[in-house]
Amino acid sequence: MIVYFTGTGNSRRAAQLLASRLGRPLTDAFSYIREGKQLSLTSEQPWIFVSPTYGWQLPHVFRDLILNADLQGSRDAYFVMTCGAGVGNAEQYLRQLCDKKGLSFKGLQPLVMPENYIAMFPVPDERAAGVLIKKADKQLERAVPLMAQGLALPAVKAGLAGKAMSGVVNTVFTRGVVTAKPFRVTADCTGCGKCTRVCPQNNISLATGRPVWSAECIHCMACINHCPAKAIEYGKKSVGKPRYLCPEWKETKEND
Ligand SMILES: Cc1cc2nc3c(=O)[nH]c(=O)nc-3n(C[C@H](O)[C@H](O)[C@H](O)COP(=O)(O)O)c2cc1C
Repeated sequence: MIVYFTGTGNSRRAAQLLASRLGRPLTDAFSYIREGKQLSLTSEQPWIFVSPTYGWQLPHVFRDLILNADLQGSRDAYFVMTCGAGVGNAEQYLRQLCDKKGLSFKGLQPLVMPENYIAMFPVPDERAAGVLIKKADKQLERAVPLMAQGLALPAVKAGLAGKAMSGVVNTVFTRGVVTAKPFRVTADCTGCGKCTRVCPQNNISLATGRPVWSAECIHCMACINHCPAKAIEYGKKSVGKPRYLCPEWKETKEND
C-alpha cells in the first residue's frame, strides 16, 4: 500500500510511479487530513509513505496521520520524501516514528523535485521543472527493485547542518514561520473557491466571494499555486514568481 500526501503534485507523481511499477494500491491522505479521519488500512506488502519535505522533516500533519493510523498487515515501512534540495536528518525522525508505531524502518528515498515553496523561495519555470522531474523519475526507478524485493534502502546520512535543520530549525520554522497571515487576494480573484477545495487543512473559506485564511495553515502552498487566476499572493514574497504545479496535476480535472 502506498499512502501519499501532496500540496502541488510532486509527491503524487512519485507515488503514482511507484504504484504503477510495483503494482500496489494507492491511498491519497488528503481527505483523511482534511476531515480529521483516522487512516485504517491493511497491506500485506510493505507500506510506502510518500510526501513532501517540510522544514527538513515529514510534514507534521502526515506524521500524525501515520502515528494515529490503524495499519494492519505488514510491519515494514519505506518513505519517499520529495524535496527542493534536501531532507536533512529526516531519517532519524522517521526511525523514531516507526519505533513508536511498531513498524520496521526499511529506508528513506529523498527525491529532489521542483521547489514549490513560493512563499520563501523562487520556484522553477516549466522547462526547468521538467528537467528536474525527469531526473527524479530516474532516481525513483532505481529504488523500485529494492522496494519490490523488500530490501533496505541505503542510509541517508546527515551532517551537523542537516541535524540542526531537521531539529532546532524545524521547531523554529513550524512555530515561527508557518502562518497564513500574509496570504491575500488581488483584484484578479474570481471567487471560484478552488483555494478552499485544495486546502488539506480546510483552512480557507469564502466571505463575500473572497478567500479568508484561518489559523490552521501548514504552508503546503496548494492554494497559491492552484489558483487559476494567479490572484493569491503571500505578502510581497510571491509577487512576480511563476506558480508551480506538477504537470499531470495541472492537467487533471479531479480537483476542479
Ligand atoms: C512548507 C514547506 C517547507 C519545505 N521545506 C523543504 C525542506 O526543508 N527541504 C527541501 O528540500 N524542500 C522543502 N520544501 C520543498 C518541497 O518539499 C518540494 O517542493 C516538494 O516536492 C513539494 O511536494 P508536493 O508537490 O507533493 O507538495 C518545502 C516546501 C514547503 C511548502
